[in-house]
Amino acid sequence: AALVRYKFTIATQNVTRLCKEQEIVTVNGQFPGPTLYAHEGDNVVVQVQNKGPYNVTIHWHGVRQLRSCWADGPAYITQCPITPGNSFTQRFRIIDQEGTLWWHAHISYLRATVHGALVIYPRFRKPYPFPKPTAEFPLILGEWWNANVEDVINDAIRRGAVPLESDGYTINSQPGDLFPCSANDTTRISVKSGKTYLMRIVNAAMNHAYFFKIAEHNLTVVAVDASYTKPYRTDLLLIQPGQTMDVLLTTPKTSGLFYIAVRVYNSQPPRGLPFVNTTGTAILEYRGTTSNNSVPLMPTLPAFTDTQTAFNFANSLRSLQSSVPQSVDEEMLITEGFGLVSCPNNSCAGINGGRAVGSLNNISFVTPDIAILQSYYYGVNGVFTRDFPDNPPLKFNYSQQNPPLSIWQPELGTKVKVLKFNSNVQIVFQNTGIITIQNHPIHLHGHDFYVVGQGFGNYNPQTDPANFNLVDPQMLNTVGVPTGGWAAIRFTANNPGVWLMHCHFESHSALGFEMVFLTENGPRKLDALPSPPRGLPKC
Ligand code: C2O
Repeated sequence: AALVRYKFTIATQNVTRLCKEQEIVTVNGQFPGPTLYAHEGDNVVVQVQNKGPYNVTIHWHGVRQLRSCWADGPAYITQCPITPGNSFTQRFRIIDQEGTLWWHAHISYLRATVHGALVIYPRFRKPYPFPKPTAEFPLILGEWWNANVEDVINDAIRRGAVPLESDGYTINSQPGDLFPCSANDTTRISVKSGKTYLMRIVNAAMNHAYFFKIAEHNLTVVAVDASYTKPYRTDLLLIQPGQTMDVLLTTPKTSGLFYIAVRVYNSQPPRGLPFVNTTGTAILEYRGTTSNNSVPLMPTLPAFTDTQTAFNFANSLRSLQSSVPQSVDEEMLITEGFGLVSCPNNSCAGINGGRAVGSLNNISFVTPDIAILQSYYYGVNGVFTRDFPDNPPLKFNYSQQNPPLSIWQPELGTKVKVLKFNSNVQIVFQNTGIITIQNHPIHLHGHDFYVVGQGFGNYNPQTDPANFNLVDPQMLNTVGVPTGGWAAIRFTANNPGVWLMHCHFESHSALGFEMVFLTENGPRKLDALPSPPRGLPKC
């Protein structure tokens, strides 16, 4: 194992997309940001220097952070922001994870442009569990706003509204041929016939899951969220925001140009916001293709609202190897929904003049101004409470569209759920019809979890557990809870510290669609939260 060092310099720069110049925040002047490379077992040290005008933190999405909670990065959860002109060095080790993860800013809306891939190779001389590819390349899926993204989120918060939708979808930061002023800069990937390529796909989009397809090509999924899968052959992927997929592309004997296409999967009746319905594209270009003006072939993509296809894809993934907990010590049922908080004189932009909020078990998370991990470690009282409920406070027909207004009012609070060290936890996420039903990508920090079951409608604790997959369920760090349905996960709370769990739609987490786990120390010194690193930004 080696020591891998990187330096991130965060600054603003002007870039032009969709016919418009905009000032964005970048890392090392790159957009998307630099790809980090490490081998499993390596120690990674990243010095993050903030030369931009905004407060920043960086999160290593999916990295287990075993006993390195201080390096995790979510603002006001594990650390306070790195203020302009200051820096923070984050140190962590990559343990038992191989494949692709990613990193992104974890404060306000900065991750729209502050993100990049994290490639984790197997240890030296250890092969991949699939044939060695000829070459590898990252494909980072994103979203673009014509407006300044900090204005987008601040304006939404001021008005109590859901943030504006983006203006375009991107692959390696380019929207592609179908968007205005973009065709000259479309991302092009050059390949040869008869080879196998490893695509490291990151869905860095802020608020959308994507269907992904390459015209006339078959794909084989070999890992999701840096956890190997049984090779799964398909011509279509569904990638939730936050998820990463390692996918083999074997090129047939052909020539010409083929679109790599991403289309939004957006199923949120009845109050979904309008979104841009153009397909984001890149071009797969066979070497030796002569005619410059040949038109790339476009794949046929599912409809935006094709929930069954989205479900079938997610439900087909299986772990290559699994050690899913066979018994459970802690059981939770967590409802996901929205709600309305009243504003003086009904002055907010939400329904009935209220402020739109997201909630878990009808609690809308309030971000404190002192980091929770810091206040826990130093024993500062009054920052959070330990009463996050194990079950929803209200029982109703969850998948019914528009349940009565009386259950739309969440409680505001900074509530954590305390977990005993090494306890096996099962959580069932239940989507509700409060304001809208939707596919929520739930991400847990500091742990990978097994998805042991999922379905549509209301979870039934009497009958559904009998069908759980306790043999080879897929391990993930972000699960798309089916639209109008539920998903059950299991993990072992073996990582002491404070861990955020949230919807990876940034527009939802910004509105309080978050909660926090606090895992207690274990009996051995080795199982305890270490002391804070030097230079930790404090509040
Ligand atoms: Cu990808 Cu809380 O993060």
